[in-house]
Amino acid sequence: MIDKYAVFGHPISHSKSPLIHGMFAAQLDQKLEYMAVDVAEAEFEQQVDSFLQGSGKGLNITVPFKERAWALAGLRTERAELAGAVNTLWRDESGLICGDNTDGAGLVVDLTCNHRIRLVNCRVLLLGAGGAARGVIKPLLDAGISELVIANRTLSKAQLLVSVFSFTDESSQQDTQTISACDFQGLPNGSFDLIINATSAGLGGETPDLPAHLMAEHTICYDMLYGASETPFCRWARQHQASKSLDGLGMLVEQAAESFLIWRGIKPDTAPVIDALRQSLGQQ
Ligand code: ATR
Repeated sequence: MIDKYAVFGHPISHSKSPLIHGMFAAQLDQKLEYMAVDVAEAEFEQQVDSFLQGSGKGLNITVPFKERAWALAGLRTERAELAGAVNTLWRDESGLICGDNTDGAGLVVDLTCNHRIRLVNCRVLLLGAGGAARGVIKPLLDAGISELVIANRTLSKAQLLVSVFSFTDESSQQDTQTISACDFQGLPNGSFDLIINATSAGLGGETPDLPAHLMAEHTICYDMLYGASETPFCRWARQHQASKSLDGLGMLVEQAAESFLIWRGIKPDTAPVIDALRQSLGQQ
């Protein structure tokens, strides 16, 4: 029987995951099926269970179920544990449902491999303190950044994330890494090497109100959102002379490649898939 995979979400019609995994499978000559499933809120856990009991070998989980996927996974990777959310599920040999979160790894690979950005000793400003922000903090710290400032409209949520991530990293890097919280009015003076937008403000056509002093000549801006046209944050970055203004399409493909690796034991070549998606969005 052919191995089956799916992404579960609600709504799901916008999902590019079937297209991405279809391209990975074709590239690597792997026989599999990958579909998008719109799951009713009340049926999530039961549908996961029945999918993974049959010919279903793995699942991607998207909005609004990532926290519920975290809760139902019997075994979680450390990065998923800290993210508080799971986007990849599978069963191990004993039948246990395992969960990982590949979003942060997807971001780090996109930054470091695709865009050749050096994260070691980087001073990073992370905008937002929701699920998307939380998912990338541990991988950014592990990549060796020197400073992380989490800025959020609601200060208490940024402070909560700082308390979660300040006491978890047992590696020696902790001595040399600082992590702090602020709201947009309390942003520190000076500029950052990298500014990452993890707010959902762009979905409503907005961008957080940010002072120009955050930007130096070398500052790189990265929006975890992407779209057919330039995102509001990328536009802000370009208008403020960012040295690079990048969107999250590469992160989307890279997180999918990390999931594919977990399930199939082989990592696809992501560059042609990113190119194909850009073309399908009408960008070059
Ligand atoms: P996600 O899973 O995409 O992170 P979320 O958990 O609802 O979604 O978090 C949305 C994030 O975007 C939050 O940090 C939110 O700020 P608040 O915590 O203050 O709500 C941020 N956000 C959403 N709309 C925003 C806007 N117009 N301006 C600034 N921040 C915004």
